[in-house]
Amino acid sequence: MNRRSYVWYALRLGLAVPFLALGVRGGSAEAAGDPASGKTVYEKNCQGCHGKTGGGVGGATPSLADAGRMAAKTDAEIFETVTSGRAGTGMPAWGKILSERDRWNVVAYIRTLAGR
Ligand code: HEC
Repeated sequence: MNRRSYVWYALRLGLAVPFLALGVRGGSAEAAGDPASGKTVYEKNCQGCHGKTGGGVGGATPSLADAGRMAAKTDAEIFETVTSGRAGTGMPAWGKILSERDRWNVVAYIRTLAGR
């Protein structure tokens, strides 16, 4: 390894470590989900109401594929909706049903429905 690439490596490592630490801490911090795993979660638990492409079944749900609408929400907000549901609507709370990892994964998958 030459000197320059060593410096580059050290710099990259320096940037990566705090991010890794954040990820490990988990908790309420935003964690990047895996959309491929989220797809399975979605098809099993969400598709019945939200539809295969997120557009909803029978107009009862807002479209998860509406890019403008979804862009206004942070991942943390979507995660919170999935976790706590929407009282008084058909949207169930998934916090006690799906693991935290599955909920972040499904958030990541929902993002792909709006083409992001
Ligand atoms: C039994 C039907 C049903 C199921 C199953 C369901 N939802 Fe919902 N969902 C709804 C309804 C109805 C709303 C609209 C709530 C409202 O009017 O605010 C909603 C709203 C949402 C919203 C907020 C959308 C917005 O733009 O405000 C998200 C995100 C969401 N659901 C994700 C999910 C995910 C992820 C799953 C699966 C883990 C899921 N839903 C399963 C019925 C359902």
